[in-house]
Amino acid sequence: MHLPESPLRTIVVKGMETPRIDPPMTNASGPRSVTHEELYKLGRSAAGAIVTKSMTHCPRAGNPEPRLATRITHDVGSINSMGLNNLGYRVYAGLVPKLKRYGKPVIASVSYAPCEHNLPLEDQYLEITQALEASGADMLEINLSTPNLTGIPIANDPENIRRVMEPLKREVRLPMSVKLPPYNNSLTLFQEVAELILELGVDAVVTMNSEPNTMDIDLKTRTKLLKPREGYGGLGGPAILPIALAEVQRFYKSFQDREASIAVWGCGGITTPEDAIKHFLAGASVVQVGTAFLWEGPGIFEKLWQGVERWLHENGFSSVEEIVGTVREL
Ligand code: DHB
Repeated sequence: MHLPESPLRTIVVKGMETPRIDPPMTNASGPRSVTHEELYKLGRSAAGAIVTKSMTHCPRAGNPEPRLATRITHDVGSINSMGLNNLGYRVYAGLVPKLKRYGKPVIASVSYAPCEHNLPLEDQYLEITQALEASGADMLEINLSTPNLTGIPIANDPENIRRVMEPLKREVRLPMSVKLPPYNNSLTLFQEVAELILELGVDAVVTMNSEPNTMDIDLKTRTKLLKPREGYGGLGGPAILPIALAEVQRFYKSFQDREASIAVWGCGGITTPEDAIKHFLAGASVVQVGTAFLWEGPGIFEKLWQGVERWLHENGFSSVEEIVGTVREL
């Protein structure tokens, strides 16, 4: 099949092949990238790519409400248990050609949920990704980290990562990232996953998804904020910035040490230009914005990017590439 010319080029940043996202800042897949209108708004925004909501084989209404606490105690972030509400992969595949008219890469985020067709995990990912490749999507984000189905992200088990990714790497040609959960203090698991990612040869890791299994309480009513899964959900926003920076740095170093050309895309806690700069310093070559996009809408990308450019200029740099991974040790 003839595919439309892709606007996605790769550039090499410090020896790593990195899909060209310009500016290197996108939305994080999430509650504001579900519908046609939301995705068109991203197309018109200053974001460097359009990242869809993680799509599943069958359309899903998602979890019962309330399922999103937009701004929690002390403004430290948001907690969600959306339950993969999305239009189903066929609708997104049909939408891709329209989204490509905005002239920026379209990144299809792909996820798993049990479905009436009873297809096994790996078959669902393969069917969806093949359809999105045929649709002309520029890149795939293989989401192995939703915390809101069972509370245990798929990528907490390296065997699951292998099971999903091996067939995709064999059958699908598109650039591919894997979206991972935080490994926090599970350093043995982190090592295992980093080795496996190297072996699989994906183009990028996106780290991190929301911090799983968190909770907040409304004191007036003495009630949990979220209904699904007894109130547990994924935390995003300022509270997780230090967790995300550590994840980015750990993956960046581990790939550098092995001279692997796998890019690290940083996601987690970016609400100011300075937060984005920290992600770049820690090793991210592209950053994603979730909770701040939820709070402020698509105008956030222009605001953040202008601030990043100002910081670069004021500090004598001419591009982001010059600072990626340059954080200093004490
Ligand atoms: C959902 C949440 C996630 O963090 C994710 O990666 C995918 C889906 C959700 O609950 O819809």
